[in-house]
Amino acid sequence: MTSSQSHPAIVVRELSQKVATLDGTLSILDGINLEIAQGQSVAIIGSSGAGKSTLLALLAGLDRASHGEIYLDGSALHQLDEEQRAALRGASVGFIFQSFMLVDSLTALENVMLPLELAGQANAPQQAKALLERVGLAERLDHFPNQLSGGEQQRVAIARAFASKPKILFADEPTGNLDHSNSDKVEELLFSLNRESGTTLVLVTHDLELAKRCQRQLRMHAGRLEEQQ
Ligand SMILES: Nc1ncnc2c1ncn2[C@@H]1O[C@H](COP(=O)(O)OP(=O)(O)O)[C@@H](O)[C@H]1O
Ligand SMILES: [Mg+2]
Repeated sequence: MTSSQSHPAIVVRELSQKVATLDGTLSILDGINLEIAQGQSVAIIGSSGAGKSTLLALLAGLDRASHGEIYLDGSALHQLDEEQRAALRGASVGFIFQSFMLVDSLTALENVMLPLELAGQANAPQQAKALLERVGLAERLDHFPNQLSGGEQQRVAIARAFASKPKILFADEPTGNLDHSNSDKVEELLFSLNRESGTTLVLVTHDLELAKRCQRQLRMHAGRLEEQQ
């Protein structure tokens, strides 16, 4: 299916996730329905264990749901195999984790170059450098993750996530490991990139101030999703 402005960025129908445990079947997500318009910013809040990370991973195609339908930018994610999901992720999706998830053996520049090289882009070093300058790390190109502060590492992760110009950016507690001033910088970046690039932004957070900056707030409770007014 080709993409156009005519469909929502994300459509979810009757999404459930059940996993087998020693005590029987555990229901993590229970009949989620959701539509997110292109370019919208959406916060998902809710207590620990509510299912927020599970939902985000399914929406990003990192995992497979046990039941239900997910359409990402018009593509039926639930009908794709592992390899096709990886291709769709590479083309349309960025993901930012609470724990940064940088490659420790690569410099900041090399971490951001990685997705560009995987996409076969010839000028990966120049593009990666420009992205790191955009997140305020022009002076840190050759630093390894363990030579960077948490806030700097998250800014590298943001530069990496934006390298493939994703239509949809998922962030799972992106400021959860950061102090106040670094949180502010990371938030500013996420929202300015959301505005400038029209990127759809879906983030999980415990920070109600951050949630309020999004156009929509959804609350997850025991595997169900509710719109906050
Ligand atoms: N693969 C799994 N096997 C068993 N339980 C899981 C699995 N993944 C998540 N859970 C459980 O599902 C619930 C929701 O987890 P999670 O999505 O990480 O919640 P949140 O991000 O809202 O804190 C938790 O109780 C968690 O322990
Ligand atoms: Mg979580």
